Amino acid sequence: MTGGAPSVPTSAARLIRTVCVVGSGGREHALAVVLARTADVVVTPGNPGITGRSVEGHTITSVATPVEQIEADLYVIGPEVPLVDGLADRLRADGRLVFGPGADGAQLEGSKAFMKEMLAEAGIPTAQFGAFEEVGPALEFLRSLEAPWVVKTDGLAAGKGVLVTDSLAEAEADVMAKLSGDAFGSAGRRVVIEEGLTGPECSLLVLCDGQRLAALAPAQDFKRRDDDDLGPNTGGMGAFSPVPSVDDALVESLVAEAVAPLVVALRARGIDYRGVLYAGLMLTPSGPKVLEFNVRFGDPETQVVLPRYDGDLCALLAEVAAGALVTTPRFIPDPAVCVVLASEGYPEAPRTGDPIRGLDEAGALPGVTVLHAGTARGDEDDDGIITSGGRVLGVTALGGTLAEARTRAYAGVAAIDWPGMQHRTDIARDAAAEPSTPLLHVKAEAAP
Ligand code: AMP
Ligand code: GLY
Repeated sequence: MTGGAPSVPTSAARLIRTVCVVGSGGREHALAVVLARTADVVVTPGNPGITGRSVEGHTITSVATPVEQIEADLYVIGPEVPLVDGLADRLRADGRLVFGPGADGAQLEGSKAFMKEMLAEAGIPTAQFGAFEEVGPALEFLRSLEAPWVVKTDGLAAGKGVLVTDSLAEAEADVMAKLSGDAFGSAGRRVVIEEGLTGPECSLLVLCDGQRLAALAPAQDFKRRDDDDLGPNTGGMGAFSPVPSVDDALVESLVAEAVAPLVVALRARGIDYRGVLYAGLMLTPSGPKVLEFNVRFGDPETQVVLPRYDGDLCALLAEVAAGALVTTPRFIPDPAVCVVLASEGYPEAPRTGDPIRGLDEAGALPGVTVLHAGTARGDEDDDGIITSGGRVLGVTALGGTLAEARTRAYAGVAAIDWPGMQHRTDIARDAAAEPSTPLLHVKAEAAP
């Protein structure tokens, strides 16, 4: 020891030794890997693949213990369902430091109608819409719009409650199925019908400490199940970051025009939003428009954004949780690509229980990390890993260029197999052919 100055932590971040991550998917695995650069991570419930030790020596463990019984310096809530159910409020009431909005802010994702109302109140550009509980007025509004027709469940549907179609008859049938409760139960008893927008999409994850905002690197997600954006909508079949057409200046203007006014509107309602605001954007010919806001990290966007974070993620998320965001997030220039491997039958009726081959081989390839989502341990006499959900794995790779990251990710995909495994072959294909973007470091700024 030199000198007599007491070692007083200078920020909330200095106190973070253990982080508890709530969730069990690929997003939570990606969070755990990056948080474990600087702290031990406990994931609940996690899954058998979310385990290990970081190169820095910190541990990652998955436990079945309920979150309330886990002692940690910081709690990061991954999925939307516990947020909408008020888990962040309950943990905060118990004096814990929590990254994630309370039930009030989480309504942005819990109800699409509430989200659209907030966008209108904040003057944020979005598709024209109507919210309906009765078939007659819903069909009348639908018929007043032009193709493509867009029908969404109001409530949570794991990214699968959205129909975008060029067939009016299909849209009409979908409205009736959703409102009857047949298609999505109570989540579909109210529908949101929207004007169909066109243009490239971008996912922007923006940290919010209740007032200040800081954008993370932009990502692009692939929502349709099959190549060339065909097939049904899913939770996301792959992603890449950065996005060549979305440079730092565009990110800054998206934060100012599409996110900051929302935070002002939330504050006007007394909502102290501490977590991440995920803006799903469409870059239309008449300017960027918000498709949706989610109240948590995107999946699989997190799998390509966080590995590129050039700093201490525990410290960053603790600042957000403490309402004291001062760090400007910076990212390494190396792009990342994630390809999701899904079960046969995903998204309608995923088949589970199939043994997975090639996990170790894929994980040993240069730049490749295999992130687990719907996996479980096999029977006692079989110590292998089996499929247990729709989206099973996210094969993620960093590379010197987007093209290299893509080649590496697909080399990982080629090493893995199980009966009925499905994946897209065109993740980041078009973007890899474009020139690369500069390093992203948008300054943290206060909402006006
Ligand atoms: P959401 O869950 O609301 O983001 O919708 C899922 C996907 O459906 C989006 O990523 C878009 O590809 C598509 N989508 C949603 N809303 C619209 C819209 N108004 N116009 C065109 N496509 C849309
Ligand atoms: N990747 C879409 C989502 O997380 O909602």
